[in-house]
Amino acid sequence: MASKLSPLLFRSAARSACRAPRPHIRAFTAASSRRSESLAVHRNTPDNNPDIPFKFTAQNETIIAEILKRYPPQYKKAAVMPVLDLGQRQHGFASISVMNEVARILEMPPMRVYEVASFYTMYNRTPVGKFHVQACTTTPCQLGGCGSDVIVKAIKEELGIKQGETTSDGLFTFVEVECLGACVNAPMIQINDDYYEDLTPESTKQLLSALRQSATSSSSDVKVPTPGPMSGRQTCENSAGQTNLTSEPWGAETTRQDL
Ligand code: FES
Repeated sequence: MASKLSPLLFRSAARSACRAPRPHIRAFTAASSRRSESLAVHRNTPDNNPDIPFKFTAQNETIIAEILKRYPPQYKKAAVMPVLDLGQRQHGFASISVMNEVARILEMPPMRVYEVASFYTMYNRTPVGKFHVQACTTTPCQLGGCGSDVIVKAIKEELGIKQGETTSDGLFTFVEVECLGACVNAPMIQINDDYYEDLTPESTKQLLSALRQSATSSSSDVKVPTPGPMSGRQTCENSAGQTNLTSEPWGAETTRQDL
């Protein structure tokens, strides 16, 4: 009898143990939780609502026709990313009207376009400034050169805004981003489609100031630095100069000089 009852007794004992008050255990973390700045859902605003008409320009319609040629006709929706990007470039950001138009052209449910646009951070679902400043703060940029911390500080000082904000004149939007693939020239920032690398706080401020002048001044004398390394390097060559392949390579027929 006792052996028949034992599983039952064991189960009820286990249940009681589960119900017993336990101390509240919290996961240890040194960092504060950080929520995303961007809203995952759409909210109608005066500059972003479905009543604002959007149509691609004739030139962009030609480009879309070219893009669609890359895919079988029954898979038009495969072109959603390049067409959405084109819409963003034409309109300034991927508004709800842009997304709806892309869905109409590609004959796909609008929700499928919203899913793509809200997943990839390179689609801006809210307006951004004329210059979209994206500072890389991933580890190589944080450690390379003077480090991205001082670059971010310089940007905030020069623009007078915080991460995720746009200047009141609508010229600059500043965001922090993850690795942009130019780690060897760290620290770096991306402004619109251009990379500016090997930065220092001074060169960063000069760059932003030149961009502001280029947008506000009627003079054509304003010199905006050329994209790329701002340290004088051509690309990502060793800044200490050439350290290997410094002598004549062996000729094609000679593999050993002592033979
Ligand atoms: S870590 Fe900044 S570009 Fe890679």
